[in-house]
Amino acid sequence: MSDKEKFYDLSVDERFRVIAEKTGLSESERNTLDGTGGLDIDQADHMIENVIGMYNLPMGIARNFLINGCDVLVPMVIEEPSVVAGASFMARIVRSGGGFVASAQPPEMIGQIQLLNLDDPDDALKRLEGQRQNLLREVDGIDPVLQKLGGGPRDLIVRKLDTPIGVMLVIHLIYDVRDAMGANAVNTAVERLAPLVESITGGRVLLRILSNLADRRLARAECAVPLASLEFTGYSPEAVRDGIINAWAFAAADPYRAATHNKGIMNGIDAVLLATGNDWRAVEAGAHAYAARNGQYTSLTTWGKDDNGNLTGILELPMAVGIIGGATRVHPAAKTALKIMGVKTAAQLAEIIVSVGLAQNLAALRALSTEGIQKGHMSLHARQVAAAAGAEGEMIERLAEQMVEDKKIRIDYAEKLLRELTSK
Ligand code: MEV
Repeated sequence: MSDKEKFYDLSVDERFRVIAEKTGLSESERNTLDGTGGLDIDQADHMIENVIGMYNLPMGIARNFLINGCDVLVPMVIEEPSVVAGASFMARIVRSGGGFVASAQPPEMIGQIQLLNLDDPDDALKRLEGQRQNLLREVDGIDPVLQKLGGGPRDLIVRKLDTPIGVMLVIHLIYDVRDAMGANAVNTAVERLAPLVESITGGRVLLRILSNLADRRLARAECAVPLASLEFTGYSPEAVRDGIINAWAFAAADPYRAATHNKGIMNGIDAVLLATGNDWRAVEAGAHAYAARNGQYTSLTTWGKDDNGNLTGILELPMAVGIIGGATRVHPAAKTALKIMGVKTAAQLAEIIVSVGLAQNLAALRALSTEGIQKGHMSLHARQVAAAAGAEGEMIERLAEQMVEDKKIRIDYAEKLLRELTSK
């Protein structure tokens, strides 16, 4: 494919071949994207309970991403039109300003232990702190694989918590999970600690579970978008930039808007999480809790301008993702997705995901603060409606164009057009 040829103009097969060649996919890796995701029914039957079949979603490739100086092709699994196109388009204009600069904190997760029935919580707290080293030693070797890779317990923090029914203690075990998402390692560790905690304090342990507010494992992406690259038909670059900043300020101040604003960010983030077999509910939970960390739910991104008038953006959120263990290890298509990105560590994956989230937010704010999202969205939506009406191949595009032109994107109208066009 020459640079001038548009990737989206190629057929599915041609696009697939371009990506497979570029990323050196083997024959068996290629087969994982043939429609089943490479997951056979036996593997699926071991993944969850009461399996009766499989469920497919499309995988698209977001292009143009330049992250920390490296080109990355990003697989995204999602049912919503416009998301992959929006990410690719924004990645292109961010690239013109040097791309995304992204970073990830050490993969430290938090496991919580809830401690009840304490006669003297302050005394129990002191005892636990006095036994910190013993407690950490207790869970040091419980995951030999993680230990070998340099992971393991890092710290123990005891909090006194005022609850609606009285005071309790909460112990946070800080655990470095390396390239895993870490839920299993952390849950095993806090369960192991419980009896020792009870014998040190005389209290009763109730919950022992990971916290999804993984705020020691933040990922951050930044970008500076050259002012000139923001210009588009009918809008000056300054108007687009200031529109984006105004749209952000709305979300920063208003939870009603922030919920939708952050949903747009998660459109991009969840699509990469799904593609890589990661637990998207865990990241969703962490993202929204982090967005409310100061007492009011707010925007996860920040937009502004630099001294040269360029648009600047930052996204930061907890990113508990893994490249080993769980579905990432079992699902063949998830492994292929990691190969397409060339990801070698969980931190690299986190950096890509947070960059995609920032690009997605930029796409939404740019559209919303100018022509609105319906125009671009509707022509993609029209394709889905055309396919749902029974159109196939080139007929999908023909019907979609006609529906957009007639401003009637409805299944009954698509069926009518299809009847008319096929009876000719
Ligand atoms: C739609 O899936 C996402 C948007 O609503 C995000 C936003 O409003 O910022 C377009």
